Amino acid sequence: MSGQTYRPQSRFMKWFEARLPIVGFVYSDFLNYPTPRNLNYWWAYGGILTFMLVAQIVTGVVLAMHYTPTATAAFDSVEHIMRDVNYGWLLRYLHANGGSMFFLAVYIHMFRGLYYGSYKDPREVLWILGVIIYLLMMATAFMGYVLPWGQMSFWAATVITNLFTAIPLVGKSITQWLWGGYAVDNPTLVRFFSLHYLLPFMIFGVVILHIWALHVPGNNNPAGIDVKSDKDTLPFHPYMTVKDNFALVCFLILFAWLVFYIPNYLGHSDNYIPANPLQTPPHIVPEWYLLPFYAILRAIPHKLLGVIALFASIGVLVFVPWLDTSKVRSARFRPLYKQFFWILVICCIGLGYLGSKPPEGGYVIAARILTAYYFFHFLVILPLLGYVEKPRPLPASITEAVLKPRKA
Ligand code: HEM
Repeated sequence: MSGQTYRPQSRFMKWFEARLPIVGFVYSDFLNYPTPRNLNYWWAYGGILTFMLVAQIVTGVVLAMHYTPTATAAFDSVEHIMRDVNYGWLLRYLHANGGSMFFLAVYIHMFRGLYYGSYKDPREVLWILGVIIYLLMMATAFMGYVLPWGQMSFWAATVITNLFTAIPLVGKSITQWLWGGYAVDNPTLVRFFSLHYLLPFMIFGVVILHIWALHVPGNNNPAGIDVKSDKDTLPFHPYMTVKDNFALVCFLILFAWLVFYIPNYLGHSDNYIPANPLQTPPHIVPEWYLLPFYAILRAIPHKLLGVIALFASIGVLVFVPWLDTSKVRSARFRPLYKQFFWILVICCIGLGYLGSKPPEGGYVIAARILTAYYFFHFLVILPLLGYVEKPRPLPASITEAVLKPRKA
């Protein structure tokens, strides 16, 4: 069936399609789009992410109808949403926990890419667009966290904006320009609200480019080999739509459990205390999904170098397609890389744990070791493995990979 093109049946559709061939585009690029037949459930997260992005925009737009972006009224307006607005509590919990679920999905999506070598030739631009999306997501989440104007909102904003003072010569001016004054205050909150509303639409735009860049070479797959014939693919609908929707429902069950049973579990209790510039909380911590980067920042005993390490830890991802010198994509056929992949996963979880701890004693030493390992993985292990590793033999085709039983 893949390979067929859309033929309008009615006179109206023929007329319309000759002027705007959008149905044909949806048909060939989505419904009938040829997908490798061996895609597993790790390939469902792109669709889940698209769903979550739309869900965050919809709940966010409705929340904004009831929220007041001023330093004097923001905290109370959030309480108003929780208590007075019809289903306001649900909207807020969906949006706040939706952020966490969005990041959970993006981490799985990124590590899937790292495991199966989806960033390699010819998908480098697709991968880099992903890294840009990820950066935009981090900025959006950080600014959203500031909006309730609780203690953690205020102090997280203070810590993070202060990082810019580390830039030589112009750092202080840049920071004051970001604040709109001489400290985090009303102008800072208003601009963060404005940007928090804008950035998701920019993410949406980059997601369109991301999917466009995916549809040029087509999907990678668990075997990491190219599509050789029509037999290797299936039309996206109904095969992938059914599989993706099943995965989405499972994901939404987890989301619903968070929202309806433990809606404050991932938040910080200090954020239910109104912002007080005269009282610093004992531990200032970001949301869980930013903790690994917070650990890297604090592991380095020099402010500017800490900020550089923080940005470098994300920036290094841009170069992964070239740092990885192996000809083989999928970790399935790379016995050594597979092990280093899992060590990297443990390293990132460890950094996340350390980011939640106070920066003292053994915690700092452990954070330094893991930070060094994180960079060592990308800058040394990845380039070297391509030369020293002996990959296992690749299957002749995707069809063969599906039909022949796989050892280990
Ligand atoms: C809002 C965030 C994102 C959305 C909505 C999104 C959407 C998608 C979709 C729909 C696909 C195709 C289905 C799939 O392979 O799962 C995809 C593939 C891909 N994405 Fe994303 N993505 C996002 C973020 C990212 C990030 C942060 C990265 C990496 C840094 C990334 C890297 C990739 C790669 C490499 C593929 C190709 C997968 C393959 O064929 O093996 N994406 N994305």
